[in-house]
Amino acid sequence: MAGRIPDQFIDELLARTDLTDVVASRISLKKTGQNYSALCPFHNEKSPSFSLNPNKQFYYCFGCGAGGNAISFVMEHDHVDFVDAIETLAKDAGMEVPREQGAPDRYEQNAELLKRLSESSQFYQQQLTQHPDKKKATDYLSKDRGLSGQIAKVFGLGYAPSGWDNLLKKIGTRAESQEQLLLGGMLIEKKDQPGHYYDRFRDRIIFPIRDSRGRVIAFGGRAFGDEKPKYLNSPETPVFQKSQELYGLFEAKQNTPILDQIIVVEGYMDVIVLAQHGITNAVATLGTSVNSQHIRKLFKLVSKVVLCFDGDKAGRAAAIRGLEASLPVMQDEKQVRFLFLPEGEDPDSLVRKEGKEAFNHRLEDASSLSHVLFDHARNQVTLGDEEGEAQFARNAMEMIKQIPKELTFRSVLIRQLSDQSGIDSETLGNTVFKTRRQHTPTEGHEPTPQSHTQQIQHYDGDTPDLSHYDYESSHGDYDDFHHSDYSAPLTQPKTQGSFKKPFSKKPFSKGKFYNDEPALPPAAPSLSRIKQASLCLLLHPHIAKEIDLPDPLVNQANDELQIFCKIWRYFAKHPHKNTGHLLGELTDKTTVSSIYALLNHQDATTKQKITNAQQEVLDMVLALEKNLGLNSSIARLKSKGNESIKDSSSKQELRNLMDLIRQKKN
Ligand code: UTP
Ligand code: MN
Repeated sequence: MAGRIPDQFIDELLARTDLTDVVASRISLKKTGQNYSALCPFHNEKSPSFSLNPNKQFYYCFGCGAGGNAISFVMEHDHVDFVDAIETLAKDAGMEVPREQGAPDRYEQNAELLKRLSESSQFYQQQLTQHPDKKKATDYLSKDRGLSGQIAKVFGLGYAPSGWDNLLKKIGTRAESQEQLLLGGMLIEKKDQPGHYYDRFRDRIIFPIRDSRGRVIAFGGRAFGDEKPKYLNSPETPVFQKSQELYGLFEAKQNTPILDQIIVVEGYMDVIVLAQHGITNAVATLGTSVNSQHIRKLFKLVSKVVLCFDGDKAGRAAAIRGLEASLPVMQDEKQVRFLFLPEGEDPDSLVRKEGKEAFNHRLEDASSLSHVLFDHARNQVTLGDEEGEAQFARNAMEMIKQIPKELTFRSVLIRQLSDQSGIDSETLGNTVFKTRRQHTPTEGHEPTPQSHTQQIQHYDGDTPDLSHYDYESSHGDYDDFHHSDYSAPLTQPKTQGSFKKPFSKKPFSKGKFYNDEPALPPAAPSLSRIKQASLCLLLHPHIAKEIDLPDPLVNQANDELQIFCKIWRYFAKHPHKNTGHLLGELTDKTTVSSIYALLNHQDATTKQKITNAQQEVLDMVLALEKNLGLNSSIARLKSKGNESIKDSSSKQELRNLMDLIRQKKN
């Protein structure tokens, strides 16, 4: 399946496809004169505003503005990307999709691995119905957790019986398949016997983790009792990066008739129990807090996201992280809200106690982003007088400034802040607020350093239960707790950076007011966002091959960006080389000295340590794309009908954009 789909093929496919058939096989259409009408599948409505013109081969909804051709209809209706939509339509038309020669994508490279993971998943599912000890597992699921067999099936739940080599013997019969299972994190090598392996998942309930297209990419395994860890998860593998995936997203897309909102919860079980109660649109992060990439991914599918948190301190701290993750990726017309659950409850326990309706009411009442933002800004204030007001305005403004400049939403918040603080909007918008020290009081919003450590230990991955089996200590789930700033030297205040987080793990003295910044060592000028991303690439060259830069971006006449692109190109082309190689091979003196300057910058220490370097780079690229108007052109092109994408330049543009989207999705 490698390579691009040739343009002529897309032409031919569209020519051979009748939009009416495509739509009629998915929703019911009614003939109205020349056209057809229907209840729009893309928003909730009682009377039909969806219209299809068979002559022009396009559809349009007067209610929500959705519109396009057969490809965009399949994309939006089936929640698939461009290439999958083409595959679907081609299959219906009895055509085979040809590919131009090109590098295989991540999934093609790892086809074998994915196959083994899928077989593993089937194996665990079989054990649930066939293993002599299956009752232990089925009783746990049905009696202890109240799950129906049907929902277990929807989520592909399975059972890893006890024993060291059940999976190994079944799926890892050949050396090659063992190698793949090892690569996929299913096996662990015995320390004292190199080349010998044992099963990672033993005596656990198995939750297959699927990507958004339904391919099994990893597993979570829950202990039956109080064994630690409660959940054992696959390590990061070539097909699994836990900070990028959302558990249950595929199932939500499959099982929710009109998917216009997604609820983000904490646990596997929460997702499944909610689904069993008819709330099929929940997904869970995989032991990390919700990040910008998650939100961005969700915004591609839905316009409303509800982040769900426990009502306790840790939950509020997590909500603030969710708020900060949301701000830079906000869009007009999109919404992030926050649902705080009563203390001691999680969605699983609550929906079982209260039922679907009550849970839905809670969802309807979820707090708006602005509410949480102002609340948080207010909570950090330690004084009751005008200085306190100023402190509040500054706190709020620091967060508001993370929202992309062009958004109406940002101006609305500034206006609201102006109303609340009495400072006029213009002053608020223009003021360059001094950066707070990292030691900002955050009472009630942050787990203590101690609880942080506990969490990491608690979530540590692959601890086998027999001591004679040596094991690699895991890098720990819950990576996200290692925010870049947590590892940053606290004595170095970062100025104006977009990656600045107002929290630290440092204890703070209660009631201390930091408005007047205490004397600090002079800071080196902060790096621009592009330079930060370049630095990330220099320090983590492997990121390059995970990222694609669109041509319009590479062609920008911007010196900083040119250097970034040079670095990216080099490492994308030579994935095994490092920055030393790059410097050795570069002949252009200016670039060399810029790279040295970056490597010498004080931020290099921080960037060296961060775990989310890839995301930083991606975020920067996305921000640039956005500036270049790539997002809006995606929307524009998708809403054009068949007619209008006949001309080859817009078709090419559409294809480039879709490729971009696809790469991002993978
Ligand atoms: P919780 O500890 O809140 O558990 O973990 P839960 O979802 O309520 O689980 P049940 O109801 O006791 O079965 C929430 C999520 O954190 C990750 C998992 O993704 C889990 O779903 N986690 C938790 C781990 O990865 N490892 C652990 O040991 C615990
Ligand atoms: Mn639970």
